Amino acid sequence: MDLVIRNATLPDHTRADIAIAGDRIAAIGTDLALKGRQEIDAHGDLAAPPFVDAHFHMDATLSYGLPRVNQSGTLLEGIALWGELKPLLAQEALIERALQYCDWAVARGLLAIRTHVDVCDDRLLAVEALLEVKRRVAPYLDLQLVAFPQDGLLRSPAAFDNLKRAIAMGVDVVGGIPHFERTMADGAESVRLLCAFAADKGLRVDMHCDETDDPLSRHIETLAYHANRLGLHGRVAGSHLTSMHSMDNYYVSKLLPLIAESGVAAIANPLINITLQGRHDTYPKRRGMTRVPELMAAGVDVAFGHDCVMDPWYGMGSGDMLEVAHMGLHVAQMTSQEAMRACFDAITETPARILGLEGYGLQAGCHADLVILDAGSTIEAIRLRAARRYVLRRGRVISQSPPARAELNLPGRPEQVNFRLGR
Ligand code: FE2
Repeated sequence: MDLVIRNATLPDHTRADIAIAGDRIAAIGTDLALKGRQEIDAHGDLAAPPFVDAHFHMDATLSYGLPRVNQSGTLLEGIALWGELKPLLAQEALIERALQYCDWAVARGLLAIRTHVDVCDDRLLAVEALLEVKRRVAPYLDLQLVAFPQDGLLRSPAAFDNLKRAIAMGVDVVGGIPHFERTMADGAESVRLLCAFAADKGLRVDMHCDETDDPLSRHIETLAYHANRLGLHGRVAGSHLTSMHSMDNYYVSKLLPLIAESGVAAIANPLINITLQGRHDTYPKRRGMTRVPELMAAGVDVAFGHDCVMDPWYGMGSGDMLEVAHMGLHVAQMTSQEAMRACFDAITETPARILGLEGYGLQAGCHADLVILDAGSTIEAIRLRAARRYVLRRGRVISQSPPARAELNLPGRPEQVNFRLGR
């Protein structure tokens, strides 16, 4: 074997050794008799498949403060601000920012990202830039691009043509933003047009959908309907779905089975939803995140996405999917052991399924991509936002971080205290 990882704890709490030959996992099991040319002793730490971010905006990342900061903190000011920035974007600077973010991501064990890319700039400068980034990072990070008509498919005159051009250039997934169209009817029509286009081209769909506190924003219903009608089961995702937070319970009881039957996945973005939504409320203020545990209970695949890092919508973030899961767990009050473990799945297995990643997982035959965390379980990993001790891609260690430790020198305590933080 090229590499054997000893004494790892797997996400299902079992102990195992992981043997790697070339770029694949060759065997996984207790006390493997196989010898490795290189060996890592995990000392019982958690080995998990790499983190996957199902929803991001890499064309805007690390642009915080350009040309100014979002004052109201709303989605709409963010979109207006991005509109001011767009004509000023330079391809090289955009590529540099995206590559810097990819470095952060890798160090955090985040090895697959679905990023939306705005197609409402006729130059398609961001599309060209992110296709270049995708090519450059391919050896260490899977980047999937979504053609995203940020200014509205029907509202922005050239948007559909630009979206088609972007797909022809190699963008992978069809995006949309029905709640930003001028009327509910236009929103529904944009969903119909985009689903039909995706079905015709054999592509996946991922729409920003109902990212509003308006309980009557019901484009998810239309999205599920067309996914069902066109046989797009398992290939469509609705991102955000925040209006579901404010919807009438009876309507939701009818909507959940429709989403489940259509095989549409949901992508919540806890950090962004909790900061952008509820901005028109006084008190009580709505949390805005979609109904994550209820969607999961209905059998819908639900992933947590990062959405934004240091951009016109959000001035925080560092590419840490454990921070995303931590916020999701709190906002959704997912505090049972089972629910906390589901929050870990929402940043690993579930988004991998939504992206359609080939060879993902910790089984023999899968790509040798994994992360060893300074934690003993998936729940502890979320609690500590644990250090990523080793990140492996295709059998090679591509990033290492020291465990989080502290040294205390306390008055009245002669001995020096040295411990692993939180463990
Ligand atoms: Fe988004």
